Parts: sequence; structure tokens; C-alpha cells
Amino acid sequence: MCGIVGYIGNKKAVPILINGLLSLEYRGYDSAGIAVLNSFNNTYKIDFVKDKGRVKVLQDNKDLELLQGNVGIAHTRWATHGSPSKENAHPHLDNSKTFAVVHNGIIENYLELKQKLLDNGYILYSETDTEVIPNLIHLNYKGDILQAISKTLKELKGSYAIEVISPLFPDKIIVAKKDSPLVIGIKDDEKFIASDIPAALSHTNKFYFLDEEEIGIIEQNSVKFFDIDLNEIQKDIKNIDWDAESSEKNGFEDYMLKEIFEQPNAIRETIGSRVSLDKNVNLELDDIDFKNFNKIYIVACGTAMHAGIAAKYSFEKFCKIPTEVDMASEFRYRSPLIDEHTLCIFITQSGETADTIAALKLAKSLGSTTISIVNVMGSSITRISDYTLYTHAGPEIAVASTKAYVCQVTLLNILAIYISERLGIENSDLNIFKQSLLELPEKVKDVLTTIDTIKEIASHVYNQRDLYFIGRGADYAVSMEGSLKLKEISYIHSEAYAAGELKHGPIALIENGVTVIAIATNPNIYEKTLSNLEESITRGANSILVTNQRIINDKINYIINIPEINPILSPIISIVPLQLFAYFIAKNKKLDVDKPRNLAKSVTVE
Ligand code: F6R
Repeated sequence: MCGIVGYIGNKKAVPILINGLLSLEYRGYDSAGIAVLNSFNNTYKIDFVKDKGRVKVLQDNKDLELLQGNVGIAHTRWATHGSPSKENAHPHLDNSKTFAVVHNGIIENYLELKQKLLDNGYILYSETDTEVIPNLIHLNYKGDILQAISKTLKELKGSYAIEVISPLFPDKIIVAKKDSPLVIGIKDDEKFIASDIPAALSHTNKFYFLDEEEIGIIEQNSVKFFDIDLNEIQKDIKNIDWDAESSEKNGFEDYMLKEIFEQPNAIRETIGSRVSLDKNVNLELDDIDFKNFNKIYIVACGTAMHAGIAAKYSFEKFCKIPTEVDMASEFRYRSPLIDEHTLCIFITQSGETADTIAALKLAKSLGSTTISIVNVMGSSITRISDYTLYTHAGPEIAVASTKAYVCQVTLLNILAIYISERLGIENSDLNIFKQSLLELPEKVKDVLTTIDTIKEIASHVYNQRDLYFIGRGADYAVSMEGSLKLKEISYIHSEAYAAGELKHGPIALIENGVTVIAIATNPNIYEKTLSNLEESITRGANSILVTNQRIINDKINYIINIPEINPILSPIISIVPLQLFAYFIAKNKKLDVDKPRNLAKSVTVE
């Protein structure tokens, strides 16, 4: 939700800022803007360019040439307060044009602050919550900028990651954050500020992570940190082992397709040395006493929650602990029955999702032990959770999550085996299951060879209005994720149903021209799902079947054959054709698959 970047160094800021914005566009793409400190005869002033539309619009703006300075801040917006427009685009300046601010987050009490500013004679030109920040800094400024910023931050309710520049301190960028991410990349006498690591990865692997309510003063040759009361604090630089190439498209047409094809390797990296045959699973959770737990909650949002649903079966089978999966936005408002005997597992690619953070804080406050499955190193959730396990998917840039999902399901299964072993539960199947886990990368590679078949099927069904996904057990979990992928990037109405539920109501929707996609991979129940598919065919539906069973049935329009695997792990295989299906449908409709409308990669608002 909004991306911010900043640069201070010995180079012209604009090209670096534009590149940073382009790599952060997945966070929002309604409007964009840049402000730099330009100097003339040693006098500095803020110059800025901003507009509605994508970063490309900004790039094509001739006025950008006027921004020559080497200190600058920039923003790409996902609108919350005020529609996408030039006036609402960032940066926002105070009335005297002394302070320019870019902001990611939401100032919840902005109406009250706006009134205070109006009472003090200020004029606010935009509909945004952000515009109060530079004006409050101005109102609070009495000769000491740090005091003014600290006082301003204390007045803000809500979330923020901000960057501030001013001719009053032309050799500095001041940053601060609360509940929105901000990292500072370090390279000799250059500093790169960004909402997410990938925006600075082509410059450096060394990062500082700003923590809650911290302020940073960034200069070309130094970085200092303070808490909100202006006590200086020391921070360690973290080395990030992602490479810059992993944030590029590498010859693929879109990030989404590239990320789908990266899945075998991402799974291999996630398994790493955690699983080997005839040895116990190795996870750094040795000091947890798992005997203490009588319930497991898995909590997440969207695709990450679907990963939890897909892995629930594994926890119940191997750990013999009742396991519930909940969406973070519901969990936190329904007074969940949790205490110190509950293990809460949170799943998140970004590590910044506001609903998941709030649910995690609630679980901690109720005394439960918290483990988070996270992709982005150093992200907020890793700093709040008692324990963090990383998926090693690498940077996921496309808004629709693909490789993070398969890695989340993989890691959750590894965690379930780990807990089972720590509990000493006898299970003769465990080694066979580990063998299946280790085969996942190759099987996912095999399933990617269905690409041409799926492209062909998509070319026949891309103009459909409604599509239904059905499955049972883990196949139902995959149906939900397949349906979400399709909705997100193709804008086709789609729903997922447990196949057995179809006849209890939704079958009334089936008529000529509707497409039903069945996922049937479990040898014990696939025939039941097939019967449900036939019931739809009888009522005029077009049919697609994703299966690892040998099925010959000439009533089914298209059959996609995928490799066989242990049914508990099948979501990791069977989701791949559904990802490709959504991708090719969106391509046929000539849509931007990487940046679907109304969405953003990291959802830092509730
Ligand atoms: C769907 C998608 C979203 C995210 C959800 C949670 O493709 O990407 O549904 O899964 O917003 O995001 P994270 O995993 O970052 O917490």
C-alpha cells in the first residue's frame, strides 16, 4: 500500500528514485511523485513533480529534467483518502513550502488534526490524510527539527512510514515509521531508503530496519537513529542474501509468469537442510515445549490463509492437535478462545499485513506462543512474533501471490512433521511423507510442462462470465486459491465450493455456458468429485478436470493431468495449473497481470 523511496548521495537523485519506484509499483500504482532539493547559488529549495497514473507518466514528464539535486524522496500511491489525482499525489508540502513529505500508511485522526491546522490559519489543498503531516511539522517547528518531528509523530494516530526533506537541512533525509515498513540501504557514501528491500537491492545488500516509532537521520556518510523521545539508539546492519537479479523479469513477459516458473527452486530453497530422510526435521524451535499445546490456530489473509487451509490436514494427521484456520481480519474481532496452551501460527509473504499484525498482537497479549511463517526478511511480523520461520521464495513482485503460496504450504508441512517428532508421535508413514516432500521440486517442474495445454484451454474460456472451482479436502483448499487467482487478475466472477456442497444450493447457478473446474487428486475420494462434476455437465456446464488419476471420460471437455503425490501435499502441485490458467485467461483479456486493478501487494491498512 504505497511505496516510498529516498536517495541521498553523490549522484543525481531522480534516475535512482524512478528505478526504485518502478520496482515498488506493486505496492500501489494510482499516482506517483518525486521531490528533490535543488540548489542555486548555495540556496536550496524543494522542487517536485507529481501526477495521476503510473510511474511511466511521471517518467515522461518533461519537468523531471528540472530536478537536478542529489537528495530526493518519491512515492507511488494506492489511494485511501481521496481519489487518484494530481492534487492527492505525494509529495505533500506545508503551506510555506519548507517541508516535503511522502507517506505510506493511514493517519486515522487526520480530521481532528486538519481542524487544528485550519484553526491555526493553514490551508489544506488535497483530500489526503498525509497533507496534515508537513503542516504539523511546520506548526511544531521552533528551531529544532528533531523536536518538531517528535512532537508531530506523537500527535499522529494510525500508521506511517514517512520521509521528510527541507532546505533547512539540505544534507539530510529524516525518516520515521510506525506499523508501515521502511528500510535503509547502506553503500559507502550513498543511502537508499525504501518501503521494501527489492527497491534497493541493485545498489546494496546491507540494510538497517527501522522499528516502531523510531526516527532516522540519513546523511550521505552517516545514519543516526532515535526513539520517539529523541534518545539515540544503536542498530545493527543486516545482510540480505537476495540477489538483485531475483527482482528482475529475466526474459519473462511478466513477473507472475517468472515467479510461477521459479516455484521448483523456491520450494527446494525452503526445504533446504530442514528435511532429510532418517533424521528428525531441523527447525530452530528447540525451546518450545509442544506438549503444552491443546489447540493450534493458523491465522492469515488471502492466499496465505489458503496455504493454512491446505496445511491444516497435516497438523491434524501428524500432530493430533485440533487445528483451526482463521482469517486475520475476523480472528481479531471474535474474541478467540486462546491462552498459553494455544499455539498460534501466522502466515504472511510480506510480513507487513495490518490484519495479520493485529491478530498476532492479540494472540501474544492472550499468552499464546506465536510462530510466524514469513517471506520478507526483517519485516514487521518477524520482529513481533515469538519465533519466525522463513520461506525462501525470494522477492515476490507480482501482486498475485504464487511462489510464496507453494513455499508456505511446504514449510507448514515441515513444521507439522517437526512438531510430530518433538511430541514423539509414532507414525510409520513419516519417512515416506518426507520422501514425498523432497520430491516436490521435481514434481512441480513436471507440472509446469502442462503450460501449452493450459494456454490452449484458456484461449477457449477466457470470455466466460462465471467459473466455479470444486474439490474435496485438500483439493477444496486448492479450489479456493485457484478461484482467488482467477478473480484477482482476470476480473472474472468465480467461486470455490466443497464439491459435496454443490448440490446443497450452488448447483442452481449451473446452466449452459458456465464453466466448472474440478480438482480431484485424492485416490480415496476423487470419484465422488467426478460425480459432482458430472452433475454439473448434465446441467449444461463446460468442464475442466485437474487430476493425477487415470481418467478417461469423453463427457469432460478438458483434462489436465498432473503428477501423483501424497494427497496432503497435492495442493503444492495442483495449484500450478490453476495459476497458469488464471495467468493465460488474463493475458487473453489483455490485462496487466502483475498489477491488477484495485489491488496492491502489501496490505498495510485494515
Ligand atoms: C493474493 C494475495 C493476497 C495476499 C494477502 C496476504 O494473490 O497476494 O491475498 O496473500 O494480502 O498478504 P501477506 O501474505 O503479505 O500477508
